[in-house]
Amino acid sequence: MIPTQPPHTPGGGATPVLELDALERHFAGHGGIVRAADGVTLTVGKGEVVGLVGESGSGKSTVGRCAVRLDEPTGGTVRINGRDVTRLSRRALRPLRKDFHLVFQDPSSSLDPRMTVGQIIAEPLRLHGIAKKDAARARTAELLGQVGLRPEHAQRRPHELSGGQRQRISIARALSVDPDLLVADEPTSALDVSVQASVLNLLADLQRDRGFGCLFITHDLAAVEFLADRIAVMYLGQIVEQAPTAELFADPKHPYTRALLSAAPVPDPAIQRTRRRIVLSGELPSPLAPPPGCRFHTRCPLAVDRCRTEAPELRELPGNAAEGGGRQVSCHLVGDDGTAPDAAAAPALRTIPSTRTAR
Ligand SMILES: Nc1ncnc2c1ncn2[C@@H]1O[C@H](COP(=O)(O)OP(=O)(O)OP(=O)(O)O)[C@@H](O)[C@H]1O
Ligand SMILES: [Mg+2]
Repeated sequence: MIPTQPPHTPGGGATPVLELDALERHFAGHGGIVRAADGVTLTVGKGEVVGLVGESGSGKSTVGRCAVRLDEPTGGTVRINGRDVTRLSRRALRPLRKDFHLVFQDPSSSLDPRMTVGQIIAEPLRLHGIAKKDAARARTAELLGQVGLRPEHAQRRPHELSGGQRQRISIARALSVDPDLLVADEPTSALDVSVQASVLNLLADLQRDRGFGCLFITHDLAAVEFLADRIAVMYLGQIVEQAPTAELFADPKHPYTRALLSAAPVPDPAIQRTRRRIVLSGELPSPLAPPPGCRFHTRCPLAVDRCRTEAPELRELPGNAAEGGGRQVSCHLVGDDGTAPDAAAAPALRTIPSTRTAR
């Protein structure tokens, strides 16, 4: 479902609200070390929406949780509004928490079933001493209106609402304290397709009005194309490509990005019929033992010897600086001038005509 209104324009230039520098989150146990996030460098500018995409298990949620310090990074740094929060204790973080919020995939699990909607929305206001009683009630009513609900919804409890309404409540709660950064982890994927677009439109409208920076994690490429100014593509704990949204869709450089985009449905059936889907062979390798060299080489139809032994760096490509920074890619086969490998020249590349809409 693609909503109708275009989102806002990028912020550019100002201090980033979120800076991840070589962020690492390794989990011990399970017979080894799970390298869920393994050197992720990413910034979200003021008022900018950055999409984070990649297949299931690539480490997106781990990055999102570390970004708002709901999880402890094992390496690298997390800066919010220029301040290093990587090692701050829970206590030291508490007063800063009003600046950043996470909206989860499943609103039922993140809303306290014992509280009324009004209490849920007002809680951050109370915790941060921003508004008391009457002021909080008035603010709650205003927020309910902004997310398309009525004042009487304040009396209800989460189970009395639809999934879409619950996600609107999560958004209202996250925005009650006017954060500078919102991390939205698959905010619409638990919703019916029919309500996904309206929640996405709501997010886009609020983002444009309030100008918060947003890290938008999703599987839904149509959603990310609609909402994001810039997109980072993750594979097995690392970012393999980053580019302004339009550039990424028009000219993906990394073979993984190409495969990912080729699997996305296109609204135009005529284009859909002519498009060739690149099928990746095999499953995502285990983050317990990432392949040596380029992590994607085991599934890359274009891999050469060098890819099997030497890990490519995430390099800047001569991009369109006016679009908010150049492009980055980590692939040995992409030239320094940005020339991408010719997929058609690879005999091993398996393409099939796309016959269904795959996600
Ligand atoms: N607490 C944990 N302990 C051990 N491994 C974990 C933990 N949390 C995540 N992982 C592992 O880290 C990897 C990345 O998980 P993550 O949830 O970040 O992926 P994701 O990209 O968000 O996937 P999805 O699209 O399915 O939500 C997975 O292999 C997962 O099993
Ligand atoms: Mg996830």
